[in-house]
Amino acid sequence: MIKFLVGIVVGICLVLLAGYLFVTRGGIQMSTAGGPLPMERYLAHTSLSASIGKSAQEQSPLPSDEANQLAGAHIYQQNCGGCHGRLGQGPSGMSKRVYPHIPPLLPPGDGVTDDPVGETHWVIKNGIRFSAMPSFNGRLTENELWQITLLLRNADKLSAPVQEALRSKE
Ligand code: HEC
Repeated sequence: MIKFLVGIVVGICLVLLAGYLFVTRGGIQMSTAGGPLPMERYLAHTSLSASIGKSAQEQSPLPSDEANQLAGAHIYQQNCGGCHGRLGQGPSGMSKRVYPHIPPLLPPGDGVTDDPVGETHWVIKNGIRFSAMPSFNGRLTENELWQITLLLRNADKLSAPVQEALRSKE
């Protein structure tokens, strides 16, 4: 029995030692170059989903009409385009300089058009830890958070005036 317990303690110490050596010998690459670490994607994705939780099911209190999408377009131009890129232009110049890279949210890509609005609203409001995605809680009103969410959800079917607003310099 004693041998068994000693075996377990030694086993745990070896795992801790391996982790310590991995971290102290530069096993975790902290520069923005290179791909994800082992398990990084899984941990980030699972933790984000768990943090969003039931908020993913929230529905927009505002209708998804042109007026709200237009308001969302102005908010996008002022607060998001520098990082997430401009309509029709793909990733911004900043995109690959940070890690995780900044995903484009407007066409030609799909952005978050398939995601539940509750999830997108949560991300914009709360930001994403360990990434460059800031929280807009307090910077945008609750209505503005939903307007930008409605814009992004419908990014693949925007009306001509909304597209024009997204092409204007602000
Ligand atoms: C300083 C750069 C920066 C700014 C400004 C910024 N974002 Fe982000 N955003 C990011 C990064 C980086 C990610 C990716 C995070 C990740 O992969 O975990 C991200 C992710 C997102 C996502 C999730 C995308 C997905 O595929 O699930 C949404 C939605 C989003 N941002 C919306 C916005 C909106 C709306 C604004 C403006 C109000 C904005 N962001 C401003 C850097 C930024």
